[in-house]
Amino acid sequence: WNAPALRARLLKWYEANQRELPWRQNKDPYSIWVSEIMLQQTRVAVVIDRHRVFLERFPTVDALACAAEEDVLALWSGLGYYRRARMLHQAAIYVAENLNGRMPTTSAELRKLPGIGAYTAAAIASIAHDERVAVVDGNVERVLCRLAGWEASSGSGATALRKKIDGLASELVDPRRPGDFNQGMMELGATVCLPRNPQCLVCPIAEHCVTRGEHKAAPRARMVSR
Ligand code: ADE
Repeated sequence: WNAPALRARLLKWYEANQRELPWRQNKDPYSIWVSEIMLQQTRVAVVIDRHRVFLERFPTVDALACAAEEDVLALWSGLGYYRRARMLHQAAIYVAENLNGRMPTTSAELRKLPGIGAYTAAAIASIAHDERVAVVDGNVERVLCRLAGWEASSGSGATALRKKIDGLASELVDPRRPGDFNQGMMELGATVCLPRNPQCLVCPIAEHCVTRGEHKAAPRARMVSR
């Protein structure tokens, strides 16, 4: 892989094409955390409004920790998956009571909080704290599989594939701007490297891609819990 060239292309494309989203206005880890939890279950267009309302009502980890659970769940109405809201609340209480209201800053420490798995920990740490750790969601899996020409597999092959995907993601993530790189990859998967009809002609990293232009069906690689 010519990683430096690929990173430069992706970052330039992300700078020019990124959407202005409320949680990209600053690097507040709490704001990013709430956005990532909401985005796991809901489309960006809907999250924009719900994130704003949630942060107006609970602007800090401490404010969320002090809230009654029913008030947190009320603000979650319509978003579904209330378990995520409950765990977010529980994690805020843990941070307030045990960590002086300061969120952990590394992905390893973040993962110890309820409801924060590898994906969310990597997103918060890379975006808010520039930790060099890769974020791999379903979109990024698809981008990386196409980039490397890996086919979907099932059973034990799925676990092996997931390991290879994580390995490639870690190798490629930009050491200086990991948060922008990760968000660029997610954005590329969401807007260009689409499941059914990838837009290879406008893809910034097509020249690095083994399967460019093949219009392969989406590999079904979402198989290992994270
Ligand atoms: N999907 C979930 N989180 C995202 C982010 N930070 N940027 C782009 N797409 C996302």
